[in-house]
Amino acid sequence: MDAPGARRLFLRRAAALEYVKPAEYGGAGPGARCAPGEERYMAMLRLDKILSQSGIASRREAARLIRDGRVTVNGRAAAAGDEKVDPALSEILVDGAPVNYRRYCYLMMNKPAGYVSATEDRDQKTVLELLDGPLSRMGLFPAGRLDKDTEGLLLLTNDGDWAHRVISPSKNVYKTYYAETEGPLDPADVEALSDGVVLRDGLKCLPARLLILSSGATSAALVAIREGKYHQVKRMLAARGKPVTRLRRIAVGGLKLDETLAPGAYRELTPSERDMVFDGSVTFDHNVKK
Ligand code: URA
Repeated sequence: MDAPGARRLFLRRAAALEYVKPAEYGGAGPGARCAPGEERYMAMLRLDKILSQSGIASRREAARLIRDGRVTVNGRAAAAGDEKVDPALSEILVDGAPVNYRRYCYLMMNKPAGYVSATEDRDQKTVLELLDGPLSRMGLFPAGRLDKDTEGLLLLTNDGDWAHRVISPSKNVYKTYYAETEGPLDPADVEALSDGVVLRDGLKCLPARLLILSSGATSAALVAIREGKYHQVKRMLAARGKPVTRLRRIAVGGLKLDETLAPGAYRELTPSERDMVFDGSVTFDHNVKK
């Protein structure tokens, strides 16, 4: 293959493998101009790192796999963990099975109540414990937390820049919740949230949106916020004298929870779903699943 052909192949494969970060996520993007050889340099990674980022093994276990001769690169036994390999262009096998290398991974989970949104916890079950196989070893973390008793859409990734964009209030990504409360909700609550509720400790929230679905001794509503203060929805509604009895996140930006996911189940986001997160509009779906 001639050099331009090799470069085209590299860029196509690297983009597919997400090795080259798309420009909108702060990366050079597959179409970006690189200094001669730069993209080759960018693509060369330590073999033990490739194996660990693929969720095959920890760095230490990867070194052992290599020592034991169980890893081949382009048909020859790998020599050492610090060997530099281009995952986009090389065939890497462990015990004869291909390694599916992706630098970044993006998941949506239907978080069940009873799990904390943390990567580890001494006493409580974490959402990471719900992941199995290689995904549990890819360094994923929640892109924004849900309380232990909150259910619904939780995003997990190992892409820190993407997570920052999801979480940061300045990026205006609205998080929409289905909430049940004690006591009636009324138009004054809608107005108070839209002005920015002052919490009981004096902290003022950014303007939020409230759509009342039903009002009575217990009420139901959709609430959209674009920041993530501790217990924010609960504290906003508590400040209005309407304690939350149930909370479920149903959307992040324009991305809705896949209702076919049972509690605790998860799946990867498609590239377009990853972009839908940054769709600034808030569409309240009246037919929300409770
Ligand atoms: N607001 C809360 O009060 N709890 C959550 O889990 C998320 C938002």
